[in-house]
Amino acid sequence: MSATSLRFDIVTIFPEFFRGPLDFGMVRQALKKNLVSVAIHNLRDHAGDRHRTVDDRPFGGGEGMVLKPEPLFRAVSSIASQDSSFPACRTILLSAQGRRLTQETVRELADCRRLILICGRYEGVDERVTDHLATDEVSIGDYVLSGGELAACVLVDCIVRMVPGVLHNHRSTLNESFSRPAAATQPGKRIQEPAILDHPQYTRPESFRGLDVPPLLLSGDHRKIKLWRRRKALEKTLRNRPDLLEYGCLSEEDKRLLETEFEG
Ligand code: ADE
Repeated sequence: MSATSLRFDIVTIFPEFFRGPLDFGMVRQALKKNLVSVAIHNLRDHAGDRHRTVDDRPFGGGEGMVLKPEPLFRAVSSIASQDSSFPACRTILLSAQGRRLTQETVRELADCRRLILICGRYEGVDERVTDHLATDEVSIGDYVLSGGELAACVLVDCIVRMVPGVLHNHRSTLNESFSRPAAATQPGKRIQEPAILDHPQYTRPESFRGLDVPPLLLSGDHRKIKLWRRRKALEKTLRNRPDLLEYGCLSEEDKRLLETEFEG
């Protein structure tokens, strides 16, 4: 059995929520193989009163309830003191106000030994948690969820698949959507190559309801296939996510590729 290389501690008021989502596919396999571990902590266990209160009304007025600081500070300090073989690396608050998650951040987090995830809830979390407890505030996208639990599952999923040993072919993560070519991410190098979306994929049957797989993919000409895939990935990125190409300028080679006629 392999040694766990990454431990997640998730702080939530809905511990039951995590029963399903972490029980399938790659995350389940990684947990079974002991490559990662996940511990769920009920925030209410760290409340200071017999009603197990974890929220209160916002100072200054307004709708809804705000998660109080004391239970969260107590929870994180108790978690961090458990299991010294896993020193806490980052404490991440999931919230709609956070920095938007990118594949670059996912890669960075996958190098950690231990991540504490705090699921925000209600109308918000006392800002002292954001400022003095969390090392990061992360949002999974520009929309508002009812809480951070789904976002925590998303974070666990995309980090786990980057942990060495989880994917059968770890190299496949180097060429997928949002991955920059290795040369572009070397420290000290200016990022020139943009991160782009993955190319389209096809599988059997070759013809389905009159829709044919592009014949070039059946040609066995690997050099041409590689160019075609790059071209399709660039086209898709320009069509669906032009914002990704705003910051990096396309290479002359890519510009030429976009003008190339491919037979098939
Ligand atoms: N909580 C509410 N909305 C969220 C979002 N978009 N990302 C992370 N946590 C959230």
